[in-house]
Amino acid sequence: MRFFIDTANIEEIREAASWGILDGVTTNPTLCAKEGREFRSSIKEIADIVDGPISAEAISMERDGIVEEARKIASIAPNIVVKIPITEEGLAATKKLSSEGIKVNMTLIFSVNQALLAAKVGAAFVSPFLGRLDDIGHDSIAILYDMVVVYQNYDFDTKIIAASIRHPLHVTKAAEAGADIATVPFSILQQIVTHPLTDKGIDRFLKDWDKIKNL
Ligand code: E4P
Repeated sequence: MRFFIDTANIEEIREAASWGILDGVTTNPTLCAKEGREFRSSIKEIADIVDGPISAEAISMERDGIVEEARKIASIAPNIVVKIPITEEGLAATKKLSSEGIKVNMTLIFSVNQALLAAKVGAAFVSPFLGRLDDIGHDSIAILYDMVVVYQNYDFDTKIIAASIRHPLHVTKAAEAGADIATVPFSILQQIVTHPLTDKGIDRFLKDWDKIKNL
């Protein structure tokens, strides 16, 4: 499974990239607004740090506007992927953009049928939002499993990004379900590196080493 980081924070991106585990970045308008920086320059900086796909979201709601905005976003760097929410207009725009070779991450996906439609119009990625599904009492992981099966049935090239990850178990379950990618907030990346028994083990080894180092 590939790991993306779900943030627009440059320090978090640099730090996760330095661990050698980072394959890409996803942002959204909320994450960008949190950083309080100009959109284009911050996306460019992110794209210069990480080699893999960098998702940046279009906010136009009508197909011609989405296409125009997506072309501008895609021109920021060669590794940019344009995030477009699934709507009728978004599907039409994605069909056009895919035919032009612009990669789309179809976002705000909450059902298998939405994922099916996104794949049909040639989206490079789909982003099912696990946490937000769980928030309203749905079984996000069951939906993810079904999505993986449907994509396998038709051999779609569209890659599934498990998004809206809220805790380490989401990461494990996304991997078990066969999601191609998990996009994970920095705090959860930190959490999944650690284990109390790892800390305890390191502590014991260091103390024991102290006993023998001067023998
Ligand atoms: C994914 O691409 C989105 O940016 C993100 O995962 C949404 O997560 P949230 O539901 O925690 O806001």
